[in-house]
Amino acid sequence: MPIAKKNQRILIVDDEPQVRRVIAAIVELEGYEYRLAEDAETALEILDREHIDLLISDINMNVMSGVELLGIAVKRYPDLAVIMVTGVDDRETAIETLHMGAYGYVTKPFQSNELIINIANALRRRHLEIDNRRHREELEHLIEERTAELFQSREETIHILSKAAEFRDNETAKHTIRMGHYSELLARLCGLPDSLCRKLKIAAPLHDVGKIGISDTILLKPGKLTEEEFDIMKTHCEIGYRILSESTSEILMVGAEIAFNHHEKFNGRGYPRGLAGHDIPISGRIGAICDVFDALTTERPYKDAISPEEAMAIMRDGRGSHFDPDLFDRFSENFHLFVEIRSRFSDK
Ligand SMILES: [Fe+2]
Ligand SMILES: [Fe+2]
Repeated sequence: MPIAKKNQRILIVDDEPQVRRVIAAIVELEGYEYRLAEDAETALEILDREHIDLLISDINMNVMSGVELLGIAVKRYPDLAVIMVTGVDDRETAIETLHMGAYGYVTKPFQSNELIINIANALRRRHLEIDNRRHREELEHLIEERTAELFQSREETIHILSKAAEFRDNETAKHTIRMGHYSELLARLCGLPDSLCRKLKIAAPLHDVGKIGISDTILLKPGKLTEEEFDIMKTHCEIGYRILSESTSEILMVGAEIAFNHHEKFNGRGYPRGLAGHDIPISGRIGAICDVFDALTTERPYKDAISPEEAMAIMRDGRGSHFDPDLFDRFSENFHLFVEIRSRFSDK
């Protein structure tokens, strides 16, 4: 058994026993470990079974040629280095094999030095390529990790912001979370693009963030608001929009849009701008349905919750006046899915 040269193992494939012997003698003298194969099929069996660093293959062989062997080997074993051995009359083919992934070729008859230099170069190049690839994979992995972290911290920040608004409000703890899920669901039912649906899920909880800017006397007043107080209350839409719209983040921009438009009504009698129909951005039309449904079906300090079915009966009156009729139909056709979210994220 030859001594291993830095544990590098070479597979020599040639149908002429004489050539196999010569190459084996050269690589053995250089201290490489080697295996021998008399045809391409045997070579593939060995490659399948053992770890091989370098393949030295004759081009002209019976049944399967060295070119075919090269084609299979580079596909199956991307870390394998290959050197082709060719006759003088076959230089063109040898050059072609370089394009197929061979690292080099030697022409028979060759000097032992020529082969040794080729082997050393091929193994060095292989080593560099493996290193490079590993480095690249590590980098890609790192980027993936950092991106995931970034997404997570952004979602957390948004969640914290919407919770901050919630604390100042009479809203129940899970209202903002349900708003996210309802809005995402309704968006999907309307066939909106996946990226927008996901943004809505994160951004819809911010719809009332502008309540941060409304005074406690109004926000926490137990009784009915006076007309003047209600006018102030209405400004939470614009305040929310102003807070969020300064961001360049697409999610926060969606949040700004919902904050601004979730109290608009389809007939133009909502606030703050009195937009009507499709002038109301779809995120606002979605937010309106989800917000009202959740408000009706959850308990607040000043009112009891009503059942989802009762809420649906009330909301149906708003189809086409308060709510976008098409969106409302998607909502009512898939009502059970909304009821499911309600029980999954119940306040109790
Ligand atoms: Fe609101
Ligand atoms: Fe709300």
